[in-house]
Order: sequence, then structure tokens, then C-alpha cells
Amino acid sequence: MMYAPVEFSEVDYPRVKYQRRQQFWNPIRLALFTLAIVAIIGIAIGIVTHFVVKDDKSFYYFASFKITNIKYKEKYGIRNSREFTERSHQIERMISRIFQHSSGKGRFIKSHVTKLSPDKNGVNVLMVLMFRYPSTDSAERIKKKVEMILYQSLKTKQLPLTINKPSFTLTSIDSKKMRNLLNSRCGIRMTSSNMLLPASSSTERIVQGRETAMEGEWPWQASLQLIGSGHQCGASLISNTWLLTAAHCFRKNKDPRQWIATFGTTITPPAMKRSVEKIILHEKYHKETNENDIALVQLTTQIKFSNVVQRVCLPDSSIKLPPKTSVFVTGFGSVIDDGPIQNKLRQARVETISTDVCNRTDVYDGLITPGMLCAGFMDGKVDACKGDSGGPLVYDNHDIWYLVGIVSWGQSCGLPKKPGVYTRVTQYRDWIASKTGI
Ligand code: ARG
Repeated sequence: MMYAPVEFSEVDYPRVKYQRRQQFWNPIRLALFTLAIVAIIGIAIGIVTHFVVKDDKSFYYFASFKITNIKYKEKYGIRNSREFTERSHQIERMISRIFQHSSGKGRFIKSHVTKLSPDKNGVNVLMVLMFRYPSTDSAERIKKKVEMILYQSLKTKQLPLTINKPSFTLTSIDSKKMRNLLNSRCGIRMTSSNMLLPASSSTERIVQGRETAMEGEWPWQASLQLIGSGHQCGASLISNTWLLTAAHCFRKNKDPRQWIATFGTTITPPAMKRSVEKIILHEKYHKETNENDIALVQLTTQIKFSNVVQRVCLPDSSIKLPPKTSVFVTGFGSVIDDGPIQNKLRQARVETISTDVCNRTDVYDGLITPGMLCAGFMDGKVDACKGDSGGPLVYDNHDIWYLVGIVSWGQSCGLPKKPGVYTRVTQYRDWIASKTGI
């Protein structure tokens, strides 16, 4: 069937259309319509900012409290001691458990004990707490929330450590103050925006081999350069004036005036530069066997720690890493045997290998002495290489990084059954202390 077109007379047609239009777009309707559009756009923007942009900000607090069911130990006063480390981790774990199972879940980022001191009823704890809350929230309001969560758990939860409630104080601090408080601690990494870098960031980006490092990821890494011939070796910052490196780096030249140290993730441009005051080689460094391949470098002027230049922790001499522990090696060394030096810092995840395995006839056949540590993979591929010497092999313990090895030697690079060999830092803990007081 077909529809016949409706016919209008010439007089009717334009009049009807005109009248309709005028009725529909009267000023009131127009105003309402505009208003509705504006409202819809407004709501949409609101929803988008709420769910997508989520403008969270870091809020830092300084907490002080007494723990009454433990006794103070002399070693708590030494930051790198096993006693301090274990006790602070226990406290940090407890604090994180309190917040992770609370209403403020997901808001708590992390905590760091900065000091343990003696008290007549137990131990005084000073620590930094970090939270993420919407930037519109106020530090005072969050403080109230945090206190409430804490007091609630003190009442209801069975906690391994007894926190004395009246002694508990919480003070809001800015990121600068937080930095200063954490600066007194070694082995902490931060992003340029003052966020603490989570440990996982390094592991996730490793696929195979060596990945370039992010700014601030390995802030203790230094490049030792001979004036006129550039990068020779890596080194690790262990205080504001001392670097730890390998003795074999100075085989050609041990005159401190010919050396400089640079910091940052690129050799050029460096984030910081220092001249060298003094070079101390291990008295028993033996170039044929590579034994005692360790040296200290003193800088002429102190380093001012920042987000990108920071010192690494030295492990207590009693710390032992089991085989297959994940550790990271970093450096500006070549990516293939006899390749060129890299301008960008790279990192590789490797695993510790027991000395027994490393000394097998098919591996290094007895060349590994107690002062050495093997790390890599039995099927090769991931390894340090030329130019990484003297650089750090570090271990992450609860977001605090420890220098466990110094890149020393290896047969070629990345060959199967020829892992990297490192100077075992724990073995030289007393030697380092005797020369530097660290
Ligand atoms: N001795 C080398 C250097 O001068 C570093 C050796 C490390 N080799 C290795 N396969 N892990 O830079």
C-alpha cells in the first residue's frame, strides 16, 4: 500500500509551522532547557572528577608512643643493627595491620620507625605515617580519623605490642619535614614528587635482562670517572662523604685528584658531581685471585641528600641471604661483553647462588672464597658486565635497601654456569667501620 502525501493549501502550510515553532521556543522553555543542559554537564564533570581524576594527596604524620611490654636493648640505638631492624619491622607490620583492617582501608600507605629510645616502662617509638586522602580533606580531620582507628584497635584488637594510649601523640607534618625525618635513615627510595617508592616498582618492569632505571630508584648509585677518560666503575653512597666500590677499579690509577664521582640516573648530565679526597684500598686486595676486592672513596665535600641522591644501608655482618634470594644489580656498564658504556643507568634482577654451587667444577671450580658472593642465573642471560664493577648489588628488606655485594668479576657476561661474582659486603663490615666509623 502507498501513502498519499497530505496536501496543504498554500495559505495553511506556512502559518501552522510558524505557530508551532513560536510555541515551542518561548523564552521560559529556552531558559529551562539551557539550565537543564548546564546541570547535566555539571553533574557529568562532577562524576568524572570524582571517579577518574581522584585527586588524592599524601598526608604525613609523626607519631610518638610508648610500648610497655618490651625492654629496651642497647642495640636499638644502632640503626643498622639487626635488633633495631627487626623491632622496627614488627612495629611497622603491626601499624599496617591496624590500618589495613579498618574503615580507612586503602588510605594507609606505609609507616617507618625513625627512632627507638629507652623509657623507664619500656621503649619510646618515633615513627612517620603516610596516608593518601582526597586533596580536599584537611590534615586535622584526617588526624582525627587516624586517631580513632588507632584507639579503636587498642581497645578491641589483640596486638603483640602494648601501646600505652596516653603516651600516643600524632602531629601533622609536611613533606619536607617527612623527608628530613626519613633522611636520617638509609636505603629509602622516593620519587621526585616526594612519594615513597614502593619496592615492587622495580620487579614489575623486569622482563629479561636489564631495564633502564627510573629517577630516584637507585639513589645510592655513583659513577667513578677518571678525568679525561670518563666512566670507569660504579660505586655506592654509604654516608654523606663515603662511597664503597671495588679495589680493582684503581689498578690503573689510584691518585684521588684524577678521579670524580657523579650521581643520578645519567652520566651526562649528572644530578650531582664531587671531587675525590681519598681512596682506601683493602690492604689484602689480591689481583690474581680477586680476593678482598673492596675500596673506600672519600669525597672532598659532603653530599646533601635529596630524592635522587641518597645513601644505601650496610647490612649487619650477621645477615645471611639464603640461595635464590632476589637481589638487584645496577650500573652504567655494557649490555654485551665488550660493548660500550651506557649513559643511562640500568638494573637487573638476579638471584643469589650458594658458594657450594658456585664452586662446582662446572661453574667456578673452587675460585669462590668466603669474601665473595655469586648472583645471577645458572642459565646465564641476566648479569652485570664490563663497567658495572664497583657498583651495588642490593637487597630489599621491607622497603629498606641493603648493600650486599660489590660487582667484582665474572667470566665474560651472562654465560650459562658463569654467574656474576660480587664482594660479600657482610664479610667486610668491620673493615668498613674501622676506616670510616660507619
Ligand atoms: N670486572 C668487570 C668490570 O671491570 C665487571 C665484571 C662483572 N662481570 C660479570 N660477568 N658479572 O667492570
